[in-house]
Amino acid sequence: MVTQAGRHALAGFSGEIVRWQSTHGRNTLPWQNTRDPYRVWLSEIMLQQTQVTTVLDYYARFLERFPTVSELAAADEDDVLGLWSGLGYYSRARNLHRCAQDVMSLHGGRFPQTAEQLQTLPGIGRSTAAAIASFCFAERVAILDGNVKRVLTRVLGFSADLAQSANERALWNKAVELLPDHDLHETMPRYTQGLMDLGATVCSGRQPQCLLCPVQKLCRGFAAGDPGRYPVKTRKLKRSAQALSLLWAQRPDGSVWLEKRPGRGVWGGLYCLPVFESDDDLKAQLPPSMHSRLEALPHFVHVLTHKDLHLSPWIAGFRAGQSLPRSMISTDRPGAWFSPADWPALGLPAPIRKLLGQA
Ligand code: ADE
Repeated sequence: MVTQAGRHALAGFSGEIVRWQSTHGRNTLPWQNTRDPYRVWLSEIMLQQTQVTTVLDYYARFLERFPTVSELAAADEDDVLGLWSGLGYYSRARNLHRCAQDVMSLHGGRFPQTAEQLQTLPGIGRSTAAAIASFCFAERVAILDGNVKRVLTRVLGFSADLAQSANERALWNKAVELLPDHDLHETMPRYTQGLMDLGATVCSGRQPQCLLCPVQKLCRGFAAGDPGRYPVKTRKLKRSAQALSLLWAQRPDGSVWLEKRPGRGVWGGLYCLPVFESDDDLKAQLPPSMHSRLEALPHFVHVLTHKDLHLSPWIAGFRAGQSLPRSMISTDRPGAWFSPADWPALGLPAPIRKLLGQA
């Protein structure tokens, strides 16, 4: 067969990546050396936007608690979010749970075996579907996450702006052309892992280690002396800022009032201190008799992907058995008093966990 890559200026690219992966890539991570799609899928979702070193502990704890997709599907969402707590990007955890439920109800408890079908599941995009399908089923499909975009744009000298979807589509097409075309059972998992490893180690964002690169001779970015200019993407994230005031209502036994936030929006589905738009709003909702029991704590900023949250916490000493004012309690944010033994196991936003931990 005359392959796409065979006619390509980058003939030999996939072979170099495969060879390099077996000797220089990462081969002992806990989600490797398995073709079990549950384990691979779980790792790929955790590894989106999160470093390998952070994922390792979470991955082990998650698998211990939910060894199979059916156990995950049957879990309470609060338990899933609790185990996810600290990994951030909680929509991943909610989609993870929904995905497990869809695998059980729509696919008879078995993950689908093609990237096309995997992509129909919640939280699985084109690149994640391809990673799972290539690792587990040796399907000849391309991944294109942030690291791989960097590797391919540099090697190809691809200078079109990836903020434009037509250019991103063109890069996907190139990624497909470069795939291995023989011994797929052996080469596809290695090639996929090799691109990830190269992007994470040698072909790094700031200071690529071109002298160590297995495809240096093929790389147009290296030949032109400026691999660092790739990838080109003009659109900058529009950041916003939001101020929130937090009520830390505490009883003498140390229990705190926490409420489950609505599914959408900041910290959706997690337990949190009651949130107010301003300090004045918080005070206005507390009866005047409580104002002398209210104390301001230091402000702090918590940085999310799209916005900076300026948080203003207030601690209020409630009496034993005293409730929150009725006006603060809402059925779409069910709340309860949680003792110091109980709240640490809840799914809490990282800044709230840190704040409560200072008590
Ligand atoms: N990032 C995304 N997938 C990965 C994998 N399989 N190994 C290491 N890092 C990754």
